[in-house]
Amino acid sequence: MDQRYLAQRVINLKPSGIRKFFDIVATMKDVISLGIGEPDFTTPESIVQAGIQSLKQGETHYTSNAGRIKLREIISAHIEKHYGVKYDPASEIMVTVGVSEALYLAMTALLNPGEEVIIPTPCFVAYQAEALLAGGTPVEVATSMQDNFLLRPEAFEAAITPRTKAILIGYPNNPTGAVATRQSLLEIARLSEKHDLIVISDELYDQLVYGVEHVCFPSLPGMRQRTILLGGFSKNYAMTGWRIGYAAAPVDILKGLVRVHQYTIMSAPTIAQDAAIEALLNGSSAVEEMRNEYNRRRQLIVTGLNRLGLPTFEPHGAFYAFPQISVTGMDDETFAHTLLEEERVAVVPGTAFGKGGEGFVRCSYATAYEKIEEALERLAAFMRRHG
Ligand SMILES: Cc1ncc(COP(=O)(O)O)c(C=O)c1O
Repeated sequence: MDQRYLAQRVINLKPSGIRKFFDIVATMKDVISLGIGEPDFTTPESIVQAGIQSLKQGETHYTSNAGRIKLREIISAHIEKHYGVKYDPASEIMVTVGVSEALYLAMTALLNPGEEVIIPTPCFVAYQAEALLAGGTPVEVATSMQDNFLLRPEAFEAAITPRTKAILIGYPNNPTGAVATRQSLLEIARLSEKHDLIVISDELYDQLVYGVEHVCFPSLPGMRQRTILLGGFSKNYAMTGWRIGYAAAPVDILKGLVRVHQYTIMSAPTIAQDAAIEALLNGSSAVEEMRNEYNRRRQLIVTGLNRLGLPTFEPHGAFYAFPQISVTGMDDETFAHTLLEEERVAVVPGTAFGKGGEGFVRCSYATAYEKIEEALERLAAFMRRHG
């Protein structure tokens, strides 16, 4: 058997740059990994207990397609409390298998063959692939460190064609840590309205911001009616393995997403839904503790990288630093491989995240403070040879 049997759209997908790299890391000893895009914390205890309780009470069945109504009500109340946007729990919110599934649903429900979705990059590795799998065309628009990794309105407008259906934004951003300003989002809103585009807003890291405000895209004037808001539990509540998230959108759009979900997934894991209820009801102090610790590490790593001569933009969200490594004369892939080989520190090449990632690497600070200190010492030795 060979690849011939696979569908062309699958053959066309590039394997994720991150996976390839971490297959190598997995074979090595004594590596400090700044590569992982998930919290090093385990899920807070009361949330774990809620999952266990759920199982013990025999909650081992499907839920309704859109998820438990109780969870949808709590998600609705949560969005309204934090961002002032109202969604009807019965018809405008659905529970998904992480934001990953929600992205797949949004793309599949929106895109006709050949329709384009504009994607500011660098961005989460799945965005382009999800658009391709849905039969659409991802159109990357690179952002730059000079612009704080935010989308320039002229660049956005220049990428719009008669085939453009949507724009997919993700702030706080993976991999840059950028948090979009209200002004920048208002520009996206203005152009989306002008060109009648749908906005898919991935706000998975919304509670992981440091000293700045997270602006929820559908809270902007006129935007609720053209936005699919994606949110979740993986990063805020350290729940990556539970596989749970949500989508909120105006009723007619949400119906489309639920239709795809109903035939592909049926319903999100029931015990994870029960654990998510506990997370939203009682998880805020645990989130605050984790956020404070990320912030301490953020200051350590950003100051440390800049001191080593690797210009690093100050990230105000998520848990990633994105240093520019071109002073070493290496491209980002060579840098990552050489650093791993010589100093056993794993980082992710910026090109894994699309255009605009070239010449940068992603360093996750979702790892212990002491490990980051040790990684910085190893990097210092590396820079003495290559800086
Ligand atoms: C920006 C962004 N969106 C979505 C995801 C997928 O998250 P989930 O675990 O909710 O599927 C990730 C995971 O790294 C991410 O960084």
